[in-house]
Amino acid sequence: MDPNFYQVLHIVGISMVFLGYGALLARSMAAPENVSVRKLGSITSGIGLLLILVAGFGLISKLGHSYTETWILVKFVIWLLLGGLIVLINRKPQLAMLLWCLLIALSATAAIMVYVVRSAG
Ligand code: HEM
Repeated sequence: MDPNFYQVLHIVGISMVFLGYGALLARSMAAPENVSVRKLGSITSGIGLLLILVAGFGLISKLGHSYTETWILVKFVIWLLLGGLIVLINRKPQLAMLLWCLLIALSATAAIMVYVVRSAG
């Protein structure tokens, strides 16, 4: 498979996670009783996480990276954190603002890993 295909998949997955989590956070702040938004946000972010992972590993093998490069390990930790955060997003509306900022920080860290740390290495 063309590496560009995995790149597209990786970015679509990232968009889906942040779109889904944005919806879930807005719901927790504005309409905690809304079930359909909870479903939509959970399914969108769940599929997104899967796409990020599959495409991430596809990219590692297609682009010849090593699984133990620091920037990849950090991204893997970010992926685990993203997956775990849904519990707090859905259950702790009082943390919504903090989680909102944390998600932005996690995405910035992932981008820095690719465009700063990997590029330097
Ligand atoms: C298990 C988790 C992940 C793995 C194994 C992984 C792996 C990779 C690999 C191998 C690349 C290609 C780097 C290159 O072009 O040489 C990449 C690109 C990228 N990743 Fe990830 N990644 C993961 C999670 C994430 C997450 C969670 C984010 C964002 C929240 C993210 C954001 C990006 C971005 C922005 C790019 C640049 C895409 C491009 O320039 O084509 N990654 N990732």
